[in-house]
Amino acid sequence: MATIYHRPVMLRECIEALNIQEDGIYVDATFGGGGHSMGILEKLKGGRLISFDQDEDSKKQADNIQHRSFTFCQANFRHMKQYLRLHGITKVNGVLADLGISSHQIDSPERGFSTRFEGPLDMRMDKNSKLTAAQVLRGYPEDQLHKIFGMYGEIKNAKTAAKLIVSRRNDSSLNTTLDLKSVLKEVAPRGKENKYFAQVFQALRIEVNEEMKALEDFLHQCGEVIEKSGRLVVMSYHSLEDRLVKSYINTGKMQGEVEKDFFGNKIKPFEAVNRKPIEASEEEIEQNNRARSAKLRVAEKL
Ligand SMILES: C[S@@+](CC[C@H](N)C(=O)[O-])C[C@H]1O[C@@H](n2cnc3c(N)ncnc32)[C@H](O)[C@@H]1O
Repeated sequence: MATIYHRPVMLRECIEALNIQEDGIYVDATFGGGGHSMGILEKLKGGRLISFDQDEDSKKQADNIQHRSFTFCQANFRHMKQYLRLHGITKVNGVLADLGISSHQIDSPERGFSTRFEGPLDMRMDKNSKLTAAQVLRGYPEDQLHKIFGMYGEIKNAKTAAKLIVSRRNDSSLNTTLDLKSVLKEVAPRGKENKYFAQVFQALRIEVNEEMKALEDFLHQCGEVIEKSGRLVVMSYHSLEDRLVKSYINTGKMQGEVEKDFFGNKIKPFEAVNRKPIEASEEEIEQNNRARSAKLRVAEKL
C-alpha cells in the first residue's frame, strides 16, 4: 500500500472557513501533500489557486495536479506578496496556512525531524537553505542555544541543556538525532524524556527554518493582499505560533495593544470570526493523532 504523504487536518472546517467564491483567487501557503489545495480546487469555477511550499518533495506532489486554475510556487510563504505579483496578482479573496511540517517530512528519517528515527541533524524544510540543525548545535554560542531552547522549546532547564551541548559538541559524537537524544538524556526529566526530546527538536526546527520570523512576515502580507471581506485561515500546532496568529488577528500587531485612531476606532486589518480557535472533533483525533494539537483561527478582512 502506498503511504499517504499527509492527511489534511480539519479539511471541511478549513474549506468552510475560507468562504470560497467559485471565481475568487485563493492562496494555500502550505501545500504539503495538497489535501487542502484539492479541497479548494473542487470549489473553484473560473477562479485561481496559488499554492506555496518550500519543500521540493511537495513540488513533486504538486506536479501531479493538472488543473487550469492551479499554480504552484516552490517558495517560502514569507515571499508570498512578491510571488503573487509575479503572477499578476495584487489582491486575493482568501489565504490558508496549515503551519509546521507534514507527516511526510517527519516520517522521512533522512530529514532529521523525528525523535523516533536515526537521521542526520538536518531539519531543513527547504533542502537548499544553508542552516542545518547540526550547524546550530555546533556553531551557536551557549547563550543563544539557551535562548532558543527556552523560547522555542519552552523547556525549563534550557540553560543546563545548552551548557551540556556546548561541553559535548567537540568530541565528534554529536552527529545524528540519536546522538542528540543520548546527550540530552542526562538532563531530561525522568519518565518524560520523549516529551523533552520533542520540545528540543521543535526548538531546533523553528530556529533552522526561521519559522517565527517567516510567520510574522507572512501575516503582515496577508493584511496587505487579502481583499475586504476576504478570509485569513491559519492552523497552528503549538502555542508560540497560535499566540502570534491570535495577536495579529486581534491587534494587527505581533505583540502589544491594538492602536486606535483619533476617534477611538481600532486600527487593525482583521476581525476574528470565532473568538476561540476551532479544534478537531474527537472522531478526527481518533483517526489522526496529528489533529490533537491543531488550533484553527479564522479572520475576516475589514
Ligand atoms: C502541515 S504541512 C501542510 C499539509 C497540507 N495542508 C496538506 O493537506 O497536505 C506544512 C507544509 O508547509 C510547508 N511550510 C512550512 N513553513 C513554510 C514556509 N515558511 N514557506 C513555505 N512552505 C512552508 C512545509 O514544507 C510542509 O510541507
